[in-house]
Amino acid sequence: MRAETTLFNKGDNMVSEKINEIINEQINKEFYAGYLYLSMSANLKELGLFGFASWLREHAKEEVEHGLKLLDYLLERNSFVTLKQISMPSFEFNGVLSVFNLLYEHERCITKSVMEIAKLAEDECDRKTLTFIDWFIEEQVEEEQNVKNIIKRLELFGDEKSSLLLMDNELGNSTKK
Ligand SMILES: [Fe+2]
Ligand SMILES: [Fe+2]
Repeated sequence: MRAETTLFNKGDNMVSEKINEIINEQINKEFYAGYLYLSMSANLKELGLFGFASWLREHAKEEVEHGLKLLDYLLERNSFVTLKQISMPSFEFNGVLSVFNLLYEHERCITKSVMEIAKLAEDECDRKTLTFIDWFIEEQVEEEQNVKNIIKRLELFGDEKSSLLLMDNELGNSTKK
């Protein structure tokens, strides 16, 4: 905990110490997710699945954006940004389906921690944080669904190489602006 914590609740706009801490943790989780998805992307690129790889790389960038959004929120609330160490992600994966299953599990963990922020904000009657975190809840619903859809199709067609190639092209095209 930082020394500045003694200053907590002295400013009108500041979040509570607990909310400050949990948002700092969430910043770390978002950046870690970005790191993990980049590692997955590199792995699939090595396998020649360029479309899946660029989809994952785009997703990694979104996670960094989420981290920045949280960081900016703390600054807006005159609160403290404490960047923590980012863990090393796994770099060994077992094929494209296992990558996406792992991604899905990871997104579910992120959803859980976003919900914990909402719960804490609710307990503390912090309306601003509740409104702010709503965007993340919506985003998580969408992301879980997108990943689930990819898994469904991989389970159906993944063993057929021509279908896998089609999916790879499709995902690659979806990332082209
Ligand atoms: Fe995220
Ligand atoms: Fe995500």
